[in-house]
Amino acid sequence: MPPARPGPKAPITAPPLDFSDLPPRGWKRIDAFAKEYLKVPKGVGAKEPFRLRRWQLDIVKGLFPQRVNARPRQGLLSLPRGNGKTALAAVLALYCLFADEVHAAQVLVVASDERQAGHVLRAALGMIELDPRLDEQVHVYTDRIVVPHTGSELRVLPADVGALQGWDPTLMIVDELHVVTADVWEAVSSASGKRESSLTLAISTPSDSIESVMWKLVEYGRSGEDPSFYFREYAAPAGCDLTDEAAWKIANPALGDFLQIDAMRAMSRTVREPAFRRYRLGQWVGSEDTWLKFGVWDALAAPERTVEPGTKVVLGFDGSVSGDSTVLVGCTVEANPHVFMVGSWNSEGQPDGWQVPRAEVSSAVRKAFADYDVLELACDPWGWRSEIQGWAEEFGEKRVLEFDTSFRKRMAPATDLLYQAIQEKRVSHDADAVLRAHVSNAQAVTTPQGDVLQKDERKRKRRIDAAIGAVVAHARAVHHFTNKPRRRALSW
Ligand SMILES: Nc1ncnc2c1ncn2[C@@H]1O[C@H](COP(=O)(O)OP(=O)(O)OP(=O)(O)O)[C@@H](O)[C@H]1O
Ligand SMILES: [Mg+2]
Repeated sequence: MPPARPGPKAPITAPPLDFSDLPPRGWKRIDAFAKEYLKVPKGVGAKEPFRLRRWQLDIVKGLFPQRVNARPRQGLLSLPRGNGKTALAAVLALYCLFADEVHAAQVLVVASDERQAGHVLRAALGMIELDPRLDEQVHVYTDRIVVPHTGSELRVLPADVGALQGWDPTLMIVDELHVVTADVWEAVSSASGKRESSLTLAISTPSDSIESVMWKLVEYGRSGEDPSFYFREYAAPAGCDLTDEAAWKIANPALGDFLQIDAMRAMSRTVREPAFRRYRLGQWVGSEDTWLKFGVWDALAAPERTVEPGTKVVLGFDGSVSGDSTVLVGCTVEANPHVFMVGSWNSEGQPDGWQVPRAEVSSAVRKAFADYDVLELACDPWGWRSEIQGWAEEFGEKRVLEFDTSFRKRMAPATDLLYQAIQEKRVSHDADAVLRAHVSNAQAVTTPQGDVLQKDERKRKRRIDAAIGAVVAHARAVHHFTNKPRRRALSW
């Protein structure tokens, strides 16, 4: 959320803005309003007048035709990341807030989480702050911007059926529809429509599932049957080559403009293919995919690479109580790290009621500390707190770290790090069979924090613990390699 300007709100002393020089309502007015009152907040052309690009204007034309009675009631714009979705939403929101000649205009921004909703509000506020004429017209609160002269407001609402009742919006924007559920969309669309003209607009990258509201709307839009439904989809041709830059351009109208081609090139090398197709090429690829393509892990096997006693390593520990596997994975601390299995304990083939031999696990940990120069033991704490406590006492608090593998903010970057190292062949492994199986079982699930690994829900027996352990050990090893203790500077 943007920071509210705290304290009581001073009365607005500036006279109401006079927009009579602008063209009549419709896309031409929006274009003129943006040029005259809005500035690019950051990036290419920062602080310069906000010029809607030709393709952006085409969208605005479709949404706000000059003939008011030809305006669509609903719209869906599917665009890959970084093509100014949030910025466009903010421009439309500001236009409707200030200059749409509607008294007490109500502009609502709906988002699945506060952070997402905050994006549009923050972008809008950023633009307001760049123009003193707009700035002196508004009162800013944490969840809304109000124009007291006209009674108009721009407000953020949570994607919650209850919160969406009882409004009368002129414009309702859903930023990132792919995370919105069917009942929320239902509530969103029934909230609007009381006014002579109102628009519910969703702007989004594709969802990961065809069991989503977005997919239903995409199908509806593609059918082209309903003139009151505006639909525009930017996507690369299905099945195009990942490196086909002409296909990138089809999906990314801002490419080479405010979306940098170098950044796309870098991502095409390091982002997983399904994520690249979905987020960067606007394609529907579904979620059914394993983390690594077939053969990729095996190609990195280097069983001949031994880890000598005394080598600097990091250990990753993922323990279970009975069901899953308990694993201890090592990773060397060097430019091209080597991942190796230290030990794994598995209920498979064991009698019913089998429990992990905790003492045996502890002695394996102890042996690893004796064999190698262990910089760190990173442990998932679930079910093993007392052992971890014991290890910390034995090997030093500084060397024993809790690493909660269910914490996505931590796990997603770690997963990404190993993924990139694998793609760029900057890591090897000992060809351990358990590790190999677990890596091949791992599916990637895309979360707002990034990809994380999960097992196939329908095949619960397919374990992935060793893959998780490898992700943790590798991430911490990279951390130790890149943050070598600095030599203290001499000082007098
Ligand atoms: N017409 C324009 N002129 C200049 N810059 C623009 C224009 N339209 C958008 N931008 C800029 O493009 C940048 C990226 O836009 P934005 O964050 O809105 O993209 P997005 O599609 O919402 O991305 P994401 O998918 O990551 O949410 C912003 O800095 C924005 O100001
Ligand atoms: Mg955005």
